[in-house]
Order: sequence, then C-alpha cells, then structure tokens
Amino acid sequence: MTTFTALTSPRPRAAVVAAITALATVLYPVLTLAQGTPIKVGLMLPATGTFAALGDAIEKGFRLQVQEQGGKLAGREVQYFKVDDESDPSKATDNVNKLIKRDQVDVIVGTVHSGVALAMARAAKESNTLLIVPNAGADGITGAQCAPNIFRSSFSNWQPGFATGVVAAQKGYKRAMTITWNYAAGNETVKGFTEAFEKGGGKVMKELTLPFPNVEFQALLTEIASQKPDVVFAFFAGGGAVKFVKDYDAAGLRRTVPLVGSGFLTDGTLEAQGAAAQGLITVLHYGDNIETPRNNAFRNKYAVTYKANPDVYAMQGYDAAQLLVAGLNAVKGDLKQRDTLIAAMKKAQIDSPRGKFTLSAQHNPTQDFYVREVRGNYNVVTGVAVKALADPGRGCKM
Ligand code: PHB
Repeated sequence: MTTFTALTSPRPRAAVVAAITALATVLYPVLTLAQGTPIKVGLMLPATGTFAALGDAIEKGFRLQVQEQGGKLAGREVQYFKVDDESDPSKATDNVNKLIKRDQVDVIVGTVHSGVALAMARAAKESNTLLIVPNAGADGITGAQCAPNIFRSSFSNWQPGFATGVVAAQKGYKRAMTITWNYAAGNETVKGFTEAFEKGGGKVMKELTLPFPNVEFQALLTEIASQKPDVVFAFFAGGGAVKFVKDYDAAGLRRTVPLVGSGFLTDGTLEAQGAAAQGLITVLHYGDNIETPRNNAFRNKYAVTYKANPDVYAMQGYDAAQLLVAGLNAVKGDLKQRDTLIAAMKKAQIDSPRGKFTLSAQHNPTQDFYVREVRGNYNVVTGVAVKALADPGRGCKM
C-alpha cells in the first residue's frame, strides 16, 4: 500500500522551509537590486544637422512623460545614455552598438532618420534589445524587418503619404509632381502618395529628388514652373523643410502651382517659415489645436516645462514613453519578464494627445490622419483625411 506520510511528516516539511528560507536569503538582495537599479534608457537621436530640432523635441516629450510618472518608470529610477546619430546612416551601426554593447541599455528610443533607424532595427533584432522608434517612418521597421522587440510610436512613411494622396485626389487635382530627398523616407512617402492619388483618379507625372540633406532646390523649382502640374506634393522636414517652403514661395510658384505635403513640411518650422507657409495644406496624425482635455493638458505642461510649444515630434516622444510605461507597469519594472512586457505593449491603448490609438499586429500605430492648414504659427486641424489608417505591414512575418 502506498502511503504519503513521508511527504507530510514534520522532518521533510522543516527541510523544505529551511531550503526556501535559504533561497530567499540568496535571492532577496538580487530582487531588491533589480528593483533598486535604474532602468537604462538609450536615446539615439540627431543633435546636429537638419533634424537636430526634431531630436530635441522627441527627447523633451519623452522626459515630460517620465516626469508625469514621478520621474520614474514603474517605480524605478531612469538613467539616460545619449548618442548623437547625426542623421548619418553610415555611422548608425557603430552608434547603436555604443548603446547596446558598451552601455548595455534596457531599451533604445530612436530615431528620426529612416536610414539610421533601419540599421538600428537590424542591430536591435540581432541583439533582442527593446527598441521604440519615436519618428522614423521606414516601412520595413514594421514591415519586412518587423520583430517582437521593435515598436513604433509614430507612423510608417506610407501612412502620411497615402493620406495626403487621398486629400489631393478629393480636391480634384489630376496631374501631380512630387519632390523629396532621395532616401527611404522621401521615396516611401511618395509611394504612399502615388498609391492613393492614382487610385483617386490622378496621375503622378514626374518624381523629382535631390540627395539628403541637400537644399539646392532652384533647378527643380524651375522644372516645376515649366511643367505646370495641378499640384506639387513634397516631403521635407526640419531645416530642409524651412528652406524648401521659403524657396517655393520666393520663386512665385505658390500663385500658380498649389503645394501640399505630409505635415512634416510645416511642423516645428512655422516660426522660421513665416509668411511663406501661411495657408499651406498638409496632412498628418497631429495638429496643434486638437481640442481635447488630453491634448490641452499635454500642450500646457509642455509649454510650462520648456517655454515652447510642442510639435508632432514632441508628441511622438511623449507617446514612446507612454508605450514603454504600458509595458513596464505590466511587469512592475522587471524587464526580465520580456513576454509579458511585450504582450502589454502590443495590446496597449495609448491615450495620446493626437487621440487614442492602438498598434497594428506589426507594432505600428493605427491612427487618424488630419487635414491641417497653416494659420499663424499653428497647424490648425480643418478635417479628417482618413480615419483609423492602418499600415499594411507588407512583408512582416511575426
Ligand atoms: C524619416 O527619415 O523617416 C523622417 C524624417 C523626418 C520626418 C519624418 C520622417 O519628419
């Protein structure tokens, strides 16, 4: 007959208790150390070059959300490690490895430039480092190069291009020319624009490009003047967008050929663009006057903290931190519970200043795109271009 007395007899029970106590004594300092050590956040953003202001706004937005969390993430202090990526893809792998290998960060937040971000995504995938992209739209990041540990709080290049194409076709334009920098963001945004514009009955007659980050637009503007399309679609951002909008206006083109763009053309740039930007119509997943308590609170806190108005980049940085908070809170700051953390980030509903959004299966925001018009120093929302636009996530196997 089988008896189970041995298992319940006083002696083994005492031994089990002793073993647990011993284990707890060993583990306690390790566990408290994990909670007591800071979370290491690697910020890889441009601090120099044409996108420098964009990197600055992203960092400010990120830090504002951390400040709203009491300066901590899931109860843990935050330690920042920073790299200026210079928006230079040729230095991107070395730069990201400073954060991954040298600093051994827990999470990387970056960057602005699509070419740099693609190299970061490759390194993050290989090393299984958590990566949150707070701007760069490279389609592959949530497409062919997607990975469980890679998330985006911004957009795919296809999205604003597509949404602007919808609006341009609705306005009845038939013949378009496009102009942009010849790199992933420019080319993919133009592709998105063309897809929607041609579906809506228009035709892209000619694609004009110049190398990133050149701003010698004159020859291309002369070509636009001679071809006289119904509309020009442009993707530029940061310092390059300031110069382009001013040059387009100075060439007298605004009187003859309407200019539209994804909203980066006029976001964070209006003070510098002045009169040259007034009345421009753009399309983006943010606008300055979204009249919700959430956006008003964000804008007020940002203005009080930094003595400046937030733009789309600040908002995306803020939401990168919100996404991280959603994951970290689910595991009480214990990054080793990677599957639970990722599952929480995947299903997060982010209460963003732009409006609430969720992530696609490929980890890219599914979000509304707004029509905006430049009035004074603001991109004023005048309507919705496309509601709940999801990136197709082409090529993602996950
Ligand atoms: C990009 O390179 O993906 C990029 C850069 C600046 C923007 C938007 C996208 O404003």
